[in-house]
Amino acid sequence: MRIDVVSIFPEYLAALDLSLIGKARQDGVLDVRVHDLRSFTTDRHRTVDDTPYGGGAGMVMKAEPWAQALEAVLAEAPAAPRRPTLVVPSPAGAVFDQAMAHEFADLDHLVFACGRYEGIDERAIDWARAGFDVRPVSLGDYVLNGGEVAVLAMVEAVGRLIPGVVGNPESLVEESHADGLLEYPVYTKPSSWRDRDVPEVLLSGNHARIAQWRRLEQFHRTADRRPDLLAAVDTTALTKAELKALREAGFDVVDGRLTRTTH
Ligand code: ADE
Repeated sequence: MRIDVVSIFPEYLAALDLSLIGKARQDGVLDVRVHDLRSFTTDRHRTVDDTPYGGGAGMVMKAEPWAQALEAVLAEAPAAPRRPTLVVPSPAGAVFDQAMAHEFADLDHLVFACGRYEGIDERAIDWARAGFDVRPVSLGDYVLNGGEVAVLAMVEAVGRLIPGVVGNPESLVEESHADGLLEYPVYTKPSSWRDRDVPEVLLSGNHARIAQWRRLEQFHRTADRRPDLLAAVDTTALTKAELKALREAGFDVVDGRLTRTTH
């Protein structure tokens, strides 16, 4: 997969040299290129921002440097059947989640436009629609100072879904959000630590019991921490055995929604 990132702080993206993403780059699985937006300016001060029309606090990124940078990215884009996707990190975007990570992982070419200040002149975003599939994307309902941190998070979440990036693909199956639930708690040696014991079932060697315990822990944890995810569970997909175990553990289906009735 080819990834281009345009930013006024290219050094921010140096973290993409590290760990599994760095290794994937070395192995040629990911081709990541970082571009300095200022190198696409033409004035002496390498200006990328100006005051907002209509007034208000802060500065807005000028359209022209963005058009220049994105044209350069397009000019160097590898031939591909689909046009590149331009991800514009913004608190005003659609919220990034695991489903979106999977969607992006299937693409050949992702381009990230890291805005700073109050954002990018909307005309640049509109202009980019001629050459890119444009996707304004938010990391969550809070405000960062710019898109760089969001890009680090998205590249990691997307990159690890690409075959060959994570050594053991099994680890992608049993993790939070893989099935709409949070992951079960995990433990390692020693079995007793500071008066805390690993749950007995995990030492039993009984794989069916372990699997069932983990599954119920997923439901309990999701009910505690993310009741919104619990409410979204497709209850028609639950097996009879699962429903029975869930009822015994204090859950029930009420009006089609999985609900915890006791603690
Ligand atoms: N830029 C500023 N805040 C952001 C957020 N929440 N997500 C993505 N990009 C951002």
